[in-house]
Amino acid sequence: MLLRNSLLWLAGNRAVQQMVMGSAVSRAVARRFVAGETIGDALAAAETINRDGAAVSLDYLGENVVAADEARAVVGTYGSMLRAIAARHLNCNVSLKLTALGLDIDRELCIANLRHVLETAREYGNFIRIDMEGSDYTAVTLEIFEHVYCTLGYDNVGIVLQSYLYRSAADVGRAIGLRARVRLCKGAYKEPPEVAFPDKSEVDRSYVSLARALLRHGNYPGLATHDERIIEWAKRFVREEGIDSSRYEFQMLYGVRRDLQRRLVADGYNLRLYVPYGEAWYPYLMRRLAERPANLLFVLRALRHG
Ligand code: FDA
Repeated sequence: MLLRNSLLWLAGNRAVQQMVMGSAVSRAVARRFVAGETIGDALAAAETINRDGAAVSLDYLGENVVAADEARAVVGTYGSMLRAIAARHLNCNVSLKLTALGLDIDRELCIANLRHVLETAREYGNFIRIDMEGSDYTAVTLEIFEHVYCTLGYDNVGIVLQSYLYRSAADVGRAIGLRARVRLCKGAYKEPPEVAFPDKSEVDRSYVSLARALLRHGNYPGLATHDERIIEWAKRFVREEGIDSSRYEFQMLYGVRRDLQRRLVADGYNLRLYVPYGEAWYPYLMRRLAERPANLLFVLRALRHG
């Protein structure tokens, strides 16, 4: 737990970030979890994944953007991404973070940017998933989601809910009522016990309970986890409840549990891989290391050979 918290703290430390990003070894390590730095790298990875039988969600890395023109540039990147996905006929949607679209600068700017991306996605018949960030952003992210989904009528957008948050039971109920598409994950940020279950077994229990509701009543939920026990539980649950495999999908991260990914596809389940790319890979990499400190061995091995 101490190691996990330290890694999550380092994820927000700019001095360490500069040092790590400058190292060739770190870049090599990042390639395990990040498809590359360019859109070309990401599309090539998506093509391979599609060929292997899984769908993709592409994420352009970058969060907590602090300048309006930087956020506009992110919108431009998402536009190019959506056009390229359509041109290559990929089975691939898109994930984004509201802080990459300027949420820290101005809420209205962020909404305007999101609308641009949603318009382009609509033009190409594509879908946008709004990733969920730390708990300071949960309420505003859900408000913005409801604004574009309910008030403005964009039906090509979905959200992410995190089972470590106490509030997620209510949020799942609300999402079901709205027929909103939900990706369910455990949650990747450092959260205080006032808002999140401190105990991992409670996070896992909460995950199963929320997944049960979403599988029964949700709108094509995405079960985003590499937890083999939960995946086995979900397979049993859908069998017992007679829930067809076309009504949900499993989701996993690029580079994580590739053995499990191959098995799910071979067994005929819908699987989508979250594929991040871009130059701003540092916080993403630190969150992946924090989830599984054994990944640090991978880093140390790379350092020894680097
Ligand atoms: P858990 O952490 O219990 O791990 C179960 C097993 O999976 C481990 O024992 C190990 O075998 C394997 N594993 C997990 N993480 C690993 C890693 N990094 N490297 C190697 N093996 C690993 N979070 C968030 O807060 N907001 C979001 O929007 C998203 N989006 C998202 C999309 C998708 C498609 C996925 C799969 C995950 C996310 N997450 C996320 C991250 C999520 O919240 C969570 O941090 C990770 O998925 C790890 O949790 P698991 O459910 O895999 O279980």
